[in-house]
Amino acid sequence: MRHKRELIFVCTGSDCKKAGAKGLCKELKESFKKSPMKGNCKLIQTKCLDHCKSAPVVILDDHFYKKTNLDQILNELEKKLK
Ligand code: FES
Repeated sequence: MRHKRELIFVCTGSDCKKAGAKGLCKELKESFKKSPMKGNCKLIQTKCLDHCKSAPVVILDDHFYKKTNLDQILNELEKKLK
């Protein structure tokens, strides 16, 4: 049986960093320690994703989340993990 794990790609290019991507990564990692995300999520930091004007940028399930924040990503993850 294959274990499904959500992959969350967070851009940590310079514009996204200025827009708070590092803090977002840190908060996401903290959130992943709690249920239902524990063991089901993997955060991957990327270089620039070419959407700098919409920083910070996150890719989740082939969808770009632009000018995103922690609450939006957590809401999407919780929907997927239900
Ligand atoms: S720095 Fe994040 S999209 Fe370019």
